[in-house]
Amino acid sequence: MSRIRMLAMVLGLYCHGAITYADCPQSDPIVIAHRGASGYLPEHTLAAFKLAIQMGADYVEPDLVITKDGEFVVRHDHYLSKTTDIADKPEFSNRRRDLDGRSDWFSEDFTLAEIKTLRARQPFRGRSREHDGKHPIPRFQDVIELVKSESERLGKTVGIYPETKIPGYFESLGFDVDDMLIAMLKKNGLNKSNSKVFIQSFEPEILRSLRSRVNVPLVQLVSLDSSQVKEDGSYQSSISLDELSEYADGVGAAKWLLVNQQGKANDFVSRAKRLGLFIHSWTFREDAFPEELFSSGGEELKFFLKMGIDGYFTDFPDIGVRAKEWCRRQS
Ligand code: G3P
Ligand code: CA
Repeated sequence: MSRIRMLAMVLGLYCHGAITYADCPQSDPIVIAHRGASGYLPEHTLAAFKLAIQMGADYVEPDLVITKDGEFVVRHDHYLSKTTDIADKPEFSNRRRDLDGRSDWFSEDFTLAEIKTLRARQPFRGRSREHDGKHPIPRFQDVIELVKSESERLGKTVGIYPETKIPGYFESLGFDVDDMLIAMLKKNGLNKSNSKVFIQSFEPEILRSLRSRVNVPLVQLVSLDSSQVKEDGSYQSSISLDELSEYADGVGAAKWLLVNQQGKANDFVSRAKRLGLFIHSWTFREDAFPEELFSSGGEELKFFLKMGIDGYFTDFPDIGVRAKEWCRRQS
């Protein structure tokens, strides 16, 4: 730590707005490629994960849903019409159904063999669709194998940061999600204390259940509870830091929890750190950032890095790597 920074901390000056020197408290934050390099290629495809690794991401993030025959496949949602061409497949037209107010096709109604016939589509408005229809839907196992082979090729270990999506719902269908996840980790030699893996979920139950069964860090995802605004104008998190610190190692926080409604940094990061939690924040996008506050997504990222976050999910890993390099230059 530099003398200036140490002095500033000792004097209690370390808070956003009070410091005048450019700084990055966490000199080696991790770049997590959110659904792969999803800003460039259709999300959750092997091509998007490979590009993210080429761009220098430290971790790649696959979201996991489950097929009828019990395979983890990599999708953000269990409904399939948003990110695949399933709606154009006449052979599946009669498999559309209503669930929770949505008329769609759902991963749990399709075998892996059927899912393999689908091709990914760009779901994000404004992004190129030139790669639509080219890339299949990978299994979690395919992503693990890609990460391993790319790690060997590059001579560095790339990490993997799976998110189990709606595990409680899949449990209600009879899938033993935590057992499935543990089996995947063990099969691939990834349940070791030095494995470069984080497991994340929005649902606390599965993290509590995994707590004594895995050797890798657990991350509780939290979003805004917009119904509760605190005195300083910040939103309450969907799960309190005190509560999640009982079973999670880190918090994966929506970035707007770290600022109040006026965009001023609040005490979320320092409270997390005091509880011994690391903090990874989401989601940083070069093509979707608050233009009233920042001149680019990279500048937005620097603003959050100055608060001391330990990592960040980004759709643009190249921009994320640049911000990390900026951090290194500050320390
Ligand atoms: O997992 C971190 C972040 O990805 C959470 O949001 O909806 O993109 O999975 P989502
Ligand atoms: Ca996710």
